[in-house]
Amino acid sequence: MGTNNAVKSAYPPVSPETHLNIWVCNIGGGILGYAQFPGGSLTTDGVVCSPQYFGNTGYVSAPFNKGRTMTHEVGHYLNLRHIWGDGRCRQDDFVADTPSSDGPNYGCPTYPTVNCKSPDMTMNYMDYVDDACMYMFSDGQRNRMRAIFQPGGARASMLN
Ligand code: ARG
Ligand code: ZN
Ligand code: CA
Repeated sequence: MGTNNAVKSAYPPVSPETHLNIWVCNIGGGILGYAQFPGGSLTTDGVVCSPQYFGNTGYVSAPFNKGRTMTHEVGHYLNLRHIWGDGRCRQDDFVADTPSSDGPNYGCPTYPTVNCKSPDMTMNYMDYVDDACMYMFSDGQRNRMRAIFQPGGARASMLN
């Protein structure tokens, strides 16, 4: 199926202005989930997750069996970028208190894992580590998420 939004044509989102829509379906290609950032088309707004990685019981597959894929994808839905900014050291995630990095971390990294001359925040939900090894958003990420619910923010209508 891929990250091409096909499922959303078959099953259009319900009230995306006020509700987070979640599709659970096989994506394939090793993709765990994908999300739309705030400000995109309402016809494709929401989060898609493969069933092997959705929730923490039943049809889930280690090491992505603790529901963190949805935590990560909802982070994107609420305007968070990957911790490494999807680029090299100078590429920003627009969050001041997450240190610069130059790519994703995988598995369960030991601390410190140093990239771009500083220890990576590998335990952040917006890295690519195993579910058991990600357990935090930063204050700056919290503030960036909350900002889109302020008056004029991209998801302010959800508070109605
Ligand atoms: N967008 C990422 C992917 O599709 C999700 C990574 C989620 N990471 C996790 N530990 N559950 O690959
Ligand atoms: Zn991601
Ligand atoms: Ca940062």
